Amino acid sequence: MGEERVSKSGERILVVDDEENMVHFLTKLLANEGYGVEGVRSGTEALERIKEMSYDLVLCDLRLPGADGIEVLKAVRETLPEAAVVVITAYGTIPSAIEAMRAGAYDYVTKPFRAHEILAVVDKALERIRLRREVQYLRRMVEQRFGFGGLVGKSKPMQEVYTQIEKVAAARGAVLIQGESGTGKELVAKAIHHASPRRSDPFVVIDCGAIPEPLQESELFGHVKGAFTGAIATKRGLFEEAHGGTLFLDEVAELAPSLQAKLLRALQDGEIRRVGDTRVIQVDVRVIAATNRDLDEEVRQGAFREDLYYRLTVFPIRLPPLRERREDIPLLVEHCLGRMAEEADGKPKRLSPDALRVLTSYSWPGNVRELEHVLERAALLSEEEVITERDLPPHLTAPQNELAVTLPEDALGLPGTTARIIREVERELIRRALARTANNRTEAARLLGISRRALLYKLKAHGLGRS
Ligand SMILES: Nc1ncnc2c1ncn2[C@@H]1O[C@H](COP(=O)(O)OP(=O)(O)OP(=O)(O)O)[C@@H](O)[C@H]1O
Ligand SMILES: [Mg+2]
Repeated sequence: MGEERVSKSGERILVVDDEENMVHFLTKLLANEGYGVEGVRSGTEALERIKEMSYDLVLCDLRLPGADGIEVLKAVRETLPEAAVVVITAYGTIPSAIEAMRAGAYDYVTKPFRAHEILAVVDKALERIRLRREVQYLRRMVEQRFGFGGLVGKSKPMQEVYTQIEKVAAARGAVLIQGESGTGKELVAKAIHHASPRRSDPFVVIDCGAIPEPLQESELFGHVKGAFTGAIATKRGLFEEAHGGTLFLDEVAELAPSLQAKLLRALQDGEIRRVGDTRVIQVDVRVIAATNRDLDEEVRQGAFREDLYYRLTVFPIRLPPLRERREDIPLLVEHCLGRMAEEADGKPKRLSPDALRVLTSYSWPGNVRELEHVLERAALLSEEEVITERDLPPHLTAPQNELAVTLPEDALGLPGTTARIIREVERELIRRALARTANNRTEAARLLGISRRALLYKLKAHGLGRS
């Protein structure tokens, strides 16, 4: 059977027997079956061969000159752990065959045997090896396919992220996750927590960008009754809430300068103080911080403390933007549509090939979050089971680099021109960010890499009120 030949080709067998006739008989028989076969006549030779070559199966006589069958067996288990060993034993030495089985032989055959008997044993042993390899392969595929801890992606940059998550999970130092808006920073923080020894303790999130400066300290460290107007009762801060677990400081670049100093102290000494309190409290908290800003640049500009930056960045993780891992887009689409169907108790919608092409060639400034929004909207719009290009927002197919400003020839010479152009560009970027996030200002601000506060200010300045 031709097909069987193909599957057998490439499988290598080593025959070890001190009788020349036996070696000759077995090598010929197995070679006829399409296996790659070698024969040797002593245990010592066998030990040399397995050091140099890889075999899938070793067929080995038990009683041998030099090293005996058991020694060969042990050496195979050690150097070729995936290979199977079948021992050949003379009638009357079955107890030693049993001993070989205990030492890890796959099976034994007793002499004298017929050709079909030995072929059946060899076939069975190799079949088992094939199955085991297949299982390993599938397991790897599954792991790659579904990613890690809720993260989807099998691209090389994501595989690297998974490796980093595993590495930092066991450690104690702070982690700084940097990446554009919507790249999955919070998901990664959760994945680290869940892969860490702290997984059964709390994972506490604080979005530094969403808390007004005067409240940041009491949020993080708590306060005692009467510490300030409105402090009607003593309250524990998030550091205390996270005791034993992980504190995720999202948008860490938005932390007020005075808080940066206090956070540094908490990280260095593992001690905090509630607002209005004189006592210090010991906390055991693993801090994971995230930002979509270039924190290095913020440090250079003096907006972020350098010493805190170094404290936070013991383990830096950079998340790749979606446009740098486009091969993950089909997987993410499948994942999102599947989840949406589950929530709606329905059947997942599919994407037409054209629509998928649009999605894989778009630049995704809002990364995975933007992709999710586009799919949610498209799923609502499409009346059929299949989402087509028509259900996708027009800006996905429009050219992306033109701006509604033209530069005058002599732009730099004219007073006020540069400022005007920058204003125009800024206005256009804000308009697009709002369009892309369905007027969600918090998300638009993230997309633009500015604080929500800054965005509100700019909206006013540009006269872009709520529409
Ligand atoms: N690799 C991924 N696999 C599956 N879903 C993802 C992945 N990355 C991000 N997401 C999804 O995209 C959305 C945004 O992710 P997340 O909130 O973690 O991003 P972020 O980097 O924190 O964004 P921002 O800077 O805007 O806060 C979430 O709904 C998340 O589930
Ligand atoms: Mg986030």
